[in-house]
Amino acid sequence: MTNADLEKIVDTSDEWILKRTGISERRILEENSPLYPLAVEASRQAIKDSGILPEDIDLVIVTTSTPDFLTPSTSCIIQKETGAKNAAAFDLVAACSGFVYGMTVAKQFIETGYYKNVLLVSSEGMTKVIDWSDRKSCVLFGDGAGAVVLGKVEEGYGILSTFIGADGEANQLITIPCLHMSDDDMKRRENFENKIALWQDGQEVFKFAVKIMPYATEKVIENTDVSLDDVKYIIPHQANSRIIEGAAKRLGIAFEKIYTTIKKYGNISSASIPVAMDSAYREKCLSKGDNLVLVAFGGGLTWGSALVRWSK
Ligand code: ACO
Repeated sequence: MTNADLEKIVDTSDEWILKRTGISERRILEENSPLYPLAVEASRQAIKDSGILPEDIDLVIVTTSTPDFLTPSTSCIIQKETGAKNAAAFDLVAACSGFVYGMTVAKQFIETGYYKNVLLVSSEGMTKVIDWSDRKSCVLFGDGAGAVVLGKVEEGYGILSTFIGADGEANQLITIPCLHMSDDDMKRRENFENKIALWQDGQEVFKFAVKIMPYATEKVIENTDVSLDDVKYIIPHQANSRIIEGAAKRLGIAFEKIYTTIKKYGNISSASIPVAMDSAYREKCLSKGDNLVLVAFGGGLTWGSALVRWSK
């Protein structure tokens, strides 16, 4: 769906969207389609690329804020559909920070030796929880999925450190209701057709994001032998290019050092980072030994960052 397509359904313009968010297009699921096939496709591609067999996967973690079902979890569906029959499976909810939270969880299992191979899938159908008359939100989001297989790599490579955090005091800044609607939830959506649509205080989230992204970036390299100058790319959560520019400015780094896909995909919540990473990988932007910082923020509020030394 292009900005021009959106102009036909809501009072907005390509110029406003591009200038204020950096987004030109977003991918959307067909109406009434489930989300899980996207997650399955991403998982199959990641497993194939990793070279391991599905039965060698010990754990499937799915991060999503928009599951098709509360039960079965999306991870159990993926376990079946990919043939990962020996794997345990659970879903993890940390909004847009889900992928980095998932990496942190997977890292613990691998480092302790409890599991060898973890399939981490981030899959989001954000357009299912959009109100198409709410121009402040509907222009921002898209649907997508990204997956990785995580396992032990040679010493000095892989996930060198992670940093995750949350501020539950600010939990009302971004909400998507599920089985309960508070009075506040109802009031905020009184003009919405989609009563379970995402509602956010965009400006407050913006201010938070511009501060937390540099903070989480600095925290994750603290106590490592990697400095900001040694980082090849920062791959941030793709929410708004002005947030990314603001964060880059605070960090004092060139915008070119930041890998973005926002123009083409918009905000795909926790899938943003793995989809961007996959794009960088396919475009052959990543070489063995490159230091990457992945950094996200999202509803909750939550945030997370990971320092990765690319090992493929
Ligand atoms: N088209 C045209 N005009 C618009 C649109 C639109 N799509 N949206 C808002 N406007 C108008 C407003 O009505 C307002 O008009 P007014 O001055 O006449 O009242 C004007 O533009 C400015 O509105 P603001 O809300 O101040 O616009 P802002 O520059 O803050 O941009 C935005 C809004 C894009 C939402 C920005 O605040 C933002 O990106 N915030 C962060 C959102 C975010 O990252 N959320 C993360 C969610 S992550 C998760 O967990 C799901």
